[in-house]
Amino acid sequence: MRKGRLLVVFFVLVLALACQVQARQRRIVVGFVQVGAESAWRTANTESIISEAKKRGIELKYVDGQQQQANQIKAIRSFIAQKVDVIGFSPVVTTGWEQVLREAKRHKIPVILVDRAVDCADDSLWVTLIGSDFVKEGRQAAHWLAGKMKGKASIFELEGTIGSAPTIDRKKGFQEVMKDYPEMKIIHSQTGDFTRSKGKEVMKAFLKEKGPCFDALFSHNDDMAIGAIQAMEEYGIRPGTDVIIVSVDAIRAAFEAMIEGKLNCTVECNPLQGRAFFDAVEAIVAGKTLPKKIPVEEGVFPQEVARDVLPIRKY
Ligand code: AHR
Repeated sequence: MRKGRLLVVFFVLVLALACQVQARQRRIVVGFVQVGAESAWRTANTESIISEAKKRGIELKYVDGQQQQANQIKAIRSFIAQKVDVIGFSPVVTTGWEQVLREAKRHKIPVILVDRAVDCADDSLWVTLIGSDFVKEGRQAAHWLAGKMKGKASIFELEGTIGSAPTIDRKKGFQEVMKDYPEMKIIHSQTGDFTRSKGKEVMKAFLKEKGPCFDALFSHNDDMAIGAIQAMEEYGIRPGTDVIIVSVDAIRAAFEAMIEGKLNCTVECNPLQGRAFFDAVEAIVAGKTLPKKIPVEEGVFPQEVARDVLPIRKY
C-alpha cells in the first residue's frame, strides 16, 4: 500500500517536471507589424527582423502595414486575439495609439516600439523603444550643411511622412541648428512620404513651377533624395554641384550617388534592429527589466569617404 502511494507521488513529480521543461521550451511567439515597404531602409529593417527571428527559432507573425495606421491597429488587435507573447511595431505616425495599446495592456501583452516613437502620455503602454535619435540626425545634417555652405544657403526641404516621428524630429533638429545661421533659409518644405517616386514627383513639380531657386537640399531620407536627383538631372541641374544635397539613412544607393558626385552627405539611421529587438523580447519573456529607450549606434558619411565605405555597407 505504502509502496503504491510512493509510486504515485513519484509519477506526479515526474509529470510536474516534464510540464515545467515543456513550458520553458515552448516557442516564443511574437507579432510584428511594420510600417510598409516605402524605402530601402525599411526593406533592410524588415529583413533584419525576419532573419533574426528565424535564427533564434522564434515564431514571428509578420504584417506589412502598407503605410496605413488602420492596418497597423487591425494587426495589433489580431495579435492580441492570437495571444502572442510580445507585440512589436513601428508606428507609421506618432498619434492615435492609446486605445489599442491599452487593449494590449489589459490582455497583459507587452509591447516594444521599434524604430519610431508614439506620442502617448501614458508610457506604461509600452516596455521600451529601440531606435535612433532622429533629432540628433536632423542636427547632424544641419551642421554638415552649414559647414559646407559656409553658413549661407537657400534650402529645399523634402520631408518624410507627415506626423511620423522621424519627420517631426529631423525637422526639429535641423531647425534648431538653423537658428544659429541667419543666412541659411528654408525656402520650401514639402513631403515626399519617404519614397523615391514622391521625392521625384515633388521636385519635378517644384522646378516646373518655380525654377531652380535653391542651392541646397535637405532630404529626410536617401530614397527621396535619389528621386529628387533624377528630377534635377531631367531639368538640367547638376545635383551635388549646383545643388548641395544632404540626406538621412546611409543606404548603399546613397554611397553610389556620392561616388558619382550627385549626393554630398548622408547621415546614418541604422535599420539593423533585429538583434536588439529579439534581445528585448527574450529579456521580457525571462521577466527582466529593460530601459525605456534602447539607442542605436550611427555615424555621418560625407562624399569623401563613400568609395572606402561602400564595400562594407550592409544595406
Ligand atoms: O523611421 C525611419 C525612416 O523611415 C527612414 O529614415 C526612412 O527611410 C523610413 O522610411
